[in-house]
Amino acid sequence: MTTGLVVFGCGGHGREVLTIARAVNEAAGRPVWRLLGVVDDRPTEENLKRLQRLDVPYLGDVTRLRDAPLGTRHLIGIGDPRIRRAVGKRIDGYGLAAASLVHPDATIGPDTVYGPGFVAFPGARVTTNVTVGRHVHLNQNATVGHDTSLADYVSVNPLAAVSGDCHLAEGVLVGTTAAVLQGLHIGRDSTVGAGACVVRDVADQVVVKGVPAR
Ligand SMILES: CC(C)(COP(=O)(O)OP(=O)(O)OC[C@H]1O[C@@H](n2cnc3c(N)ncnc32)[C@H](O)[C@@H]1OP(=O)(O)O)[C@@H](O)C(=O)NCCC(=O)NCCS
Repeated sequence: MTTGLVVFGCGGHGREVLTIARAVNEAAGRPVWRLLGVVDDRPTEENLKRLQRLDVPYLGDVTRLRDAPLGTRHLIGIGDPRIRRAVGKRIDGYGLAAASLVHPDATIGPDTVYGPGFVAFPGARVTTNVTVGRHVHLNQNATVGHDTSLADYVSVNPLAAVSGDCHLAEGVLVGTTAAVLQGLHIGRDSTVGAGACVVRDVADQVVVKGVPAR
């Protein structure tokens, strides 16, 4: 069965999500996803040209989701977790279910439970007994260890490593190449800077950076 897919956002992250859908189709040897196009409220001219080069249509602003055929799914192609959440709340009003995409070069433990809107980029690794909420994005080569939970709208950026037994609350961003050591809790809407090493629990709504992260 082929399912129609609309991606929100024609910026870099959104276009990467499109290429993951294509990779899923190629690996399956059939069109699992039919790329109907991209919606974006304020696309730049440059991004529209880049989208055209990918041969994916720009459909218009988010209100065009009203016209989506029955059964169409969506994905939010926005890297920032808090913006992704704000967009998600708007898209919820259109009643389209979210898709989930796992790139064929990602490995997701067989007992991983993940919510709708999940995207695993190439090289993402999730081991065992990991719980993943809605609209979580694991970017290229991000790793998540055993028994960890990632709440809704978490983003783990390229090459970041979240160790075992961690809990990342809603809206957390783990920056590129950062490490979160085992057993730690990162509070809601907090940001771990690129390259940081988190060695203690992190409160809600703070930015930590450096080694050790402060
Ligand atoms: C930590 C971070 C959130 C800070 O963002 P910000 O609040 O806008 O910070 P600024 O750029 O204004 O920098 C503030 C200070 O922190 C320093 N800084 C910024 N990022 C840093 C980082 N990752 N590690 C250490 N120091 C950092 C800056 O050099 C600056 O120092 P100064 O005051 O001595 O000049 C951000 O830099 C970051 O690392 N985000 C993650 C980005 C990422 O993963 N991108 C990949 C996308 S795929």
